[in-house]
Amino acid sequence: MAQNLKAPAKRDSMTSNTPRPQKFPAGPSMANNCRAGERIAPSKIVDLVSYAIRDIVAAAEEEVKKGKQIDWLNIGDPSAYDFAPPRRILEAAAEALLSGKYTGYAPSGGDPELRRVIAGVEGCGNNEVFVTSGLSEGIDMALRILLDAGDSVLFPNPTYPLYATKADVFGAESIYYECDEKWLPDIDRLRESIKASTKAIVVINPNNPTGAVYPYSVLKEIADLAAEFNLAIIADEVYDHVLFEGVEMHKLKDIAKDVPVFSGNSLSKNFLYPGARVGYMAIHNDDGRGFLNAFMKMCNQRLSINWELQRGAIAAYNGDYTFLKPSIEKLQRRSDILCGKIAEIPGLSVVAPKGALYTFVKVDGYESDGKHDNRPDWNFTYDLLRTEGVLVVPGSAFYKNHPEEIYFRTTLLPDEMTMDRVVGKLEKFMKARHQG
Ligand SMILES: Cc1ncc(COP(=O)(O)O)c(C=O)c1O
Repeated sequence: MAQNLKAPAKRDSMTSNTPRPQKFPAGPSMANNCRAGERIAPSKIVDLVSYAIRDIVAAAEEEVKKGKQIDWLNIGDPSAYDFAPPRRILEAAAEALLSGKYTGYAPSGGDPELRRVIAGVEGCGNNEVFVTSGLSEGIDMALRILLDAGDSVLFPNPTYPLYATKADVFGAESIYYECDEKWLPDIDRLRESIKASTKAIVVINPNNPTGAVYPYSVLKEIADLAAEFNLAIIADEVYDHVLFEGVEMHKLKDIAKDVPVFSGNSLSKNFLYPGARVGYMAIHNDDGRGFLNAFMKMCNQRLSINWELQRGAIAAYNGDYTFLKPSIEKLQRRSDILCGKIAEIPGLSVVAPKGALYTFVKVDGYESDGKHDNRPDWNFTYDLLRTEGVLVVPGSAFYKNHPEEIYFRTTLLPDEMTMDRVVGKLEKFMKARHQG
């Protein structure tokens, strides 16, 4: 499209006869109704948008209609199970709502008090914090301001699917860097993946879907690579307080000092409140590169996010995380049941998660008799759903370039009784179908 842009004329030399700078080439006039008989249709871009985590639910709903009981291991929404956000957020949001003082548009970058409180958490300036509608919107805006069409961006493999969808929609190339057998980024392969077009590296730590938490040494190597190749870092740390016992978390903003670091977070996981739709991106080390202004433009064009919930978020970030301890203990017990048992089931293996809400299970020696789909992991998922009523997410939703391998992601959120039942079903299912 760039070659079609005419150089903008200087305003003071414009006369009424000077054609206005044209952004798009003139198309055929509608005067002769060139689309007569055609029906208006959605844009082709929409074909690039998929979200398997939700898509798979349609198949489960069909089973429910047939009367099947489903064990839902597909979603990462704590409130769908026995987890709840701390009261202090609900009370602050309710008070804000009832005060009637927050019925207008909030400032587009976020409630000033919330920006200040988050700046305290992130160790940055208030103007370096942008409040977004969940981290999802922060991811959208960060990729939007980093990538032009034709640029490339590095994602961990496996990755959280929203990233690749956004890159596709923006016309950018997704490059996946491989991880080792413990799901830690393989730094040599990461280095080899960098291209001249690469603008940014995304790090998801703690990781969805694997539950890996990266040690300092790995993060330092990533930070050094980013500095060497002049890449921005998007540090998705949305699970940074959901850590199992004894696991240490290191934030990339404390390690990468020479490159822009976009630190993303939200109320969804650390405060067990995904419905609040309050998140943020803090941009460290902009150093006049223009990302702060660019991000603010993104915020301005969508006006603001819900103000009452931002008031709730102030209470969240002003308090501590002691409320989370019992929830993490529950998650750990559930993870132990699942991973302990999986280790004994022929054909299944897993690296026990160190944090976040999921684990990524490998399946070997599985042959589907159904052939519902040409992807082996989707066949596995459909078979498991239809035979045992267990819903998981097919691994290829996260794990790219390994079409023959079968993985699935399960959440750690269901209660212990459900976990016991699920592992029993998995055992029965694999015993019947495992070839090996
Ligand atoms: C790694 C990761 N990043 C971002 C998000 C989006 O979170 P939010 O609910 O804050 O939009 C999720 C949600 O599951 C996630 O797992």
